[in-house]
Amino acid sequence: MSGIKMITLETPEDVGRLAADIFELEIHAKPTCVLGLATGSTPLPLYRQLVARNKAGRIDFSRVRTFNLDEYEGLAPDHEQSYRRFMQENLFDHINIRPENTHVPDGLASDPQAMFAEYERQISECGGIDLQLLGIGHDGHIGFNEPGDFFPPLTHDVVLTEQTRQANKRFFQSIDEVPLRAYTMGVGTVMAARKIVILITGKDKADILRRAFSEPVTPHVPASALQFHHDVTLICDRAAAGI
Ligand code: F6R
Repeated sequence: MSGIKMITLETPEDVGRLAADIFELEIHAKPTCVLGLATGSTPLPLYRQLVARNKAGRIDFSRVRTFNLDEYEGLAPDHEQSYRRFMQENLFDHINIRPENTHVPDGLASDPQAMFAEYERQISECGGIDLQLLGIGHDGHIGFNEPGDFFPPLTHDVVLTEQTRQANKRFFQSIDEVPLRAYTMGVGTVMAARKIVILITGKDKADILRRAFSEPVTPHVPASALQFHHDVTLICDRAAAGI
């Protein structure tokens, strides 16, 4: 497995705790750091840890800036299933981060191309992402970069695969409500981060973990690009490690 540091722990809670240690160290080392954040089920134990550590006075988010990976196209920030709302409910509303320091792609952008360029510009203006958090989809997607013939470089729009819509329908009333398209940072945006932490938990992720990190790099498994990054820590539970 390339130069990726892989750490296998017992449970998803253990994964969240170790990831929180890495975030805590990063924020202590650089109180103005820029974090790349993800949604989904996998980071929830991490976010619970970050909230608890903020409340305990261990982590100060007052100067931290954040950029989320992705957002569904067409969903308003306050829509129940929007990723902006997910972030508010699971992290931002419970920590001392300044609202203007949090960024999520705008699902309602009237000019998406301009929004993508502006998102990339804001990341650059902040000095780039110091620590990027990732999960992985069953098809190997990171952010919403679905399998394809090339690695998308920058923030862009995507057509979600049927597999991703099926996987995400658990958050909606029915599959018909799951948006068909989304906005996401590119694989290039992610690869430009100084450090990357990818969390992978659950037996259902064992196959994609092996394909992404033990097989050759291919855009048909977008996460495999991480094998070319110089500082990736993969934290997984035993179920995802297949042991
Ligand atoms: C979410 C994101 C996605 C998820 C992936 C795994 O912002 O970027 O790539 O990380 O779909 O989702 P969960 O953790 O729900 O299995």
